[in-house]
Amino acid sequence: MAEQRVVAHGPGRVNLIGEHTDYNDGLALPFAIDRGVTVTAVPLLTGDEIEAVANDLGERDAFPLAAPPRAEGWRAFVRGTVAGLQAAGHVLRPCRLIIDGDLPHGAGLSSSAALGAALCLALVEDENPDRIGLAKLCSRVENDWVGAETGLLDQLAVLCGEAGHALRIDFRTLAVVPVPLELGDWQLVTLDSGASHEHAAGGYNERRAECRAACEALGVTSLRDAPPDAAERLPEPLSRRVRHVATENARVAAMIEALAAEDFAAAGRLLDASHASLRDDYEASVVEVEAAVADLRHAGAAGARMVGGGFGGSVLALFGPGAVPPAAALAVAPGPPARRLRAG
Ligand code: GLA
Repeated sequence: MAEQRVVAHGPGRVNLIGEHTDYNDGLALPFAIDRGVTVTAVPLLTGDEIEAVANDLGERDAFPLAAPPRAEGWRAFVRGTVAGLQAAGHVLRPCRLIIDGDLPHGAGLSSSAALGAALCLALVEDENPDRIGLAKLCSRVENDWVGAETGLLDQLAVLCGEAGHALRIDFRTLAVVPVPLELGDWQLVTLDSGASHEHAAGGYNERRAECRAACEALGVTSLRDAPPDAAERLPEPLSRRVRHVATENARVAAMIEALAAEDFAAAGRLLDASHASLRDDYEASVVEVEAAVADLRHAGAAGARMVGGGFGGSVLALFGPGAVPPAAALAVAPGPPARRLRAG
């Protein structure tokens, strides 16, 4: 860790399309957004502890640097990241971590990946760290310390994003390719459904278990290898889960084509199709999310779909020229990735 004060920012993310595909070795098209989490690391000259202050929550934590004990909630992310960085060979020193942010929690914009990335960049000495390595580390923290079996989507989006671009991520190879996301006078917005989602609880881990069961039944190691007739060969609900993953991967490819052709009406239809699949085949929607989708469509959205892990969180919508999103909606555009803002 640096001997001076370091300020690092981790953005939130929106996934344009490709939901619940990451842990199935599939495709997704996320982008980092402007809002996020900022971590200021201030070296402490005495003691052997890390102190952490979450300003937006009005809460604090303190724990021994050498062996962070288990904890819940945001503390698990901080302690797990400190433990994970040291296990990966990074030398950390006692410090105070001041956490600020303007991302709503539980709104499906990945405040957790934003926090993890900002913590890493505030704590590691190397100014150009291996970002894919850090994404894997942050994902392990979420799996091992928080108990959410999430994939790598959020962490890669946040750490490898590029301003003005979405990222085509192939989770089988971890190849990350920037795709220009220029919408002219169209715009993307998110609307918080008000139903907070929790990966560690809820149906997220259950869906992962169903995908594993489908792989076992099909005799494949990943749903990327599922045969074309997989859905017909499986019992319900595995059949529908597998159909969602296959059709969603195809929609990622179709979205890239629609963007290249500047066919934004087609992009909107793909958002609608993704939502229908997440609602009917993946059964990851809830009434509050459906109400938010209805509000957005009523306001004239060309397409709308739930984003992130589901079972709550936000809805993403695409609006054409002249259409006015609901007042509570947040405009989102692809911004830069997690980065150090200042050192010294
Ligand atoms: C959450 C997880 C991601 C991904 C999405 C669904 O955001 O953190 O790994 O699985 O849900 O696409």
